[in-house]
Amino acid sequence: MSTALAVAEDRGFDAPPIVRFASVRKIFAVNGGELEAIRAFDLDIHEGESVAIVGSSGCGKSTLLRLLVGLDRNFEGSIRIDDRPVRGIGSECGIVFQEHRLFPWLTVADNIALGLASAAVDKAERHRQVERLVRLVGLDGFQKAYPHQLSGGMAQRVAIARGLVVDPRILLLDEPFGALDALTRQQMQEELLAVRERADITMLLVTHDVEEAVFLADRVVVLAPRPGRIRRVFQVGLPYPRNRGGLEFHRLREAILHELTHAAPEPAAFPSGNVKPVA
Ligand SMILES: Nc1ncnc2c1ncn2[C@@H]1O[C@H](COP(=O)(O)OP(=O)(O)OP(=O)(O)O)[C@@H](O)[C@H]1O
Ligand SMILES: [Mg+2]
Repeated sequence: MSTALAVAEDRGFDAPPIVRFASVRKIFAVNGGELEAIRAFDLDIHEGESVAIVGSSGCGKSTLLRLLVGLDRNFEGSIRIDDRPVRGIGSECGIVFQEHRLFPWLTVADNIALGLASAAVDKAERHRQVERLVRLVGLDGFQKAYPHQLSGGMAQRVAIARGLVVDPRILLLDEPFGALDALTRQQMQEELLAVRERADITMLLVTHDVEEAVFLADRVVVLAPRPGRIRRVFQVGLPYPRNRGGLEFHRLREAILHELTHAAPEPAAFPSGNVKPVA
């Protein structure tokens, strides 16, 4: 096995991790029973790292992000940011969802500024922040445009800007480019790398797309479904920007795909499988 295929156990980081999932278990109450969505999930993410989580539909990827941003606090185990338990929605994390979720009646600038809504920021500062983000994502000149006047890729850039406007240390992306055509998707992936470099952030990306994961992440976490748990963690030891046509890139992508498709048993149909009746 090549070095790029080596499993990441300990990369020898000196500083404590910025994000630590420890023994996380999440159970949903479904139809009078329980559905174990996440089991024994352990993951450390270090400052500046880019980590991708890949796994089949329903294996718990979005659930993990929701737990990390404090949208759902009902879980077992611990999730810590900067060694402090996640207590609620904080400004450490910016989040970009699969659909851009822009408000159609607000302009690009106002959609981005929404991210600042809960922060005590005066009008001038708000304007300054929005302008900075508009430039960062390459939308200068479109501040006054409405979402219906944008292409899919542009709308997704607005969503990324909104995720970044609180100046988060961690950017969470849930299938951010899922709705885009292949070419725009590649372009957005390249832009995201540039944003990551300029904004100096830690990234946690959820995606179905193995190539996207290998292109963007330092580590790729493969989840097994029902319950969602880590099957394997791949270290991507390739320099950025990565060559999608390169041999090592190809081998790594194939190895991850194999792990995803061959090792995983078919998930049970909802809501049977690991749904247990409540005692
Ligand atoms: N609010 C909820 N109530 C009950 N079950 C839920 C809830 N949210 C998620 N689940 C279940 O938890 C499991 C994981 O869901 P999750 O949305 O995290 O999957 P995912 O990996 O993000 O899937 P996809 O790739 O399709 O977005 C699924 O079986 C789903 O049915
Ligand atoms: Mg999801």
